[in-house]
Amino acid sequence: MRSRRLCGKLSYVFMKTILTVSPAEAAEFIRNGGIVAFPTETVYGLGANIFDDRAIAKIFEAKQRPNDNPLIAHVGNLGDIKLLVSEINEIVDKFIKAFFPAPLTLVLPKSKKVPLAATANLETIGVRMPRNKLALEFLKSCGTPLAAPSANLSGKPSPTTWEAVFEDLDGRIDCILQSETTEIGLESTVVDCTSDVPLILRSGAVTLEQLREIVPETRVYQIKKDEKPKSPGLKHRHYSPRAKIILVNEKWKAENGKWKAFIGLNKPMQEFDSVKVCASVEDYAHEVFNFFRECDRENIETIYCETVEEKGIGAALMDRLKRASDN
Ligand code: TXA
Ligand code: MG
Repeated sequence: MRSRRLCGKLSYVFMKTILTVSPAEAAEFIRNGGIVAFPTETVYGLGANIFDDRAIAKIFEAKQRPNDNPLIAHVGNLGDIKLLVSEINEIVDKFIKAFFPAPLTLVLPKSKKVPLAATANLETIGVRMPRNKLALEFLKSCGTPLAAPSANLSGKPSPTTWEAVFEDLDGRIDCILQSETTEIGLESTVVDCTSDVPLILRSGAVTLEQLREIVPETRVYQIKKDEKPKSPGLKHRHYSPRAKIILVNEKWKAENGKWKAFIGLNKPMQEFDSVKVCASVEDYAHEVFNFFRECDRENIETIYCETVEEKGIGAALMDRLKRASDN
């Protein structure tokens, strides 16, 4: 086995990564204990059989993912949810009926069958049924729910194209199921349903407003000082390009300096080395991670990101932009 240096660590993963457009061919790797990247409507995921500890360990190794960050379970049909969770209360039932399949992850008490390796030793599991057609076909071919984080190296922006998966994980995973650029471009909304009041741990395309139409008590989780975060992923570095991110509103001027880029809704007055003007907030959400990756490839040093109103998908977009600018 060859070794290569990655993220400053020496890693011994090096395998041939097969590219395919066939969900049946990709599913064969899962059945043989392998790990496969596949498209969903949010971002590409990296899947393993959730009941196979060894396959799950391969995900953590390939992504260089901190081992205290739990994985989301993906199902291809509603009936499989009961394999994963110990209880479905009335609130959860309402959310499932109203939204699934959807860019929505519900955190529930896990069943004994789900290995602690998948949940990073938590007694809860995030469950999602994606609505992307190829994802559903692939999940059905696998014949088992899949544990699947986003298919990027830990800390990098989530991949919205199969090429971005290839850039990060070629030689580290068994297969990539190729498809188009993902529809939404930001990760799913994560809602903790383990207490009486549903709490949004991560915002996404299913909005607070939409969740409140089904369960009016739903709130956005605010981490209290000195409290252990409810979503372990919240404390890790996330969504970041190498370039520095600066958030700007209407009244601003970029500092002098080379290799700067801009993304937003309004054409900037100044010259930039790279500019992306998006047609809508949805389009901005769709483009942002890919733009971050392009900027890194072009050695851009600073990316100016125009802020948007925090409503609808704008709330999720601002969440990711703020996190990227924190790093
Ligand atoms: O859209 C998505 O959710 C994509 C696609 C592939 O489905 N997946 C994704 O997974 O973004 P990942 O692992 O990159 O992000 C999952 C987030 C992390 O912040 C993690 O900490 C949180 O969900 N999470 C997962 N299981 C949890 C649990 N049991 N309790 C609290 N947070 C959990
Ligand atoms: Mg991720």
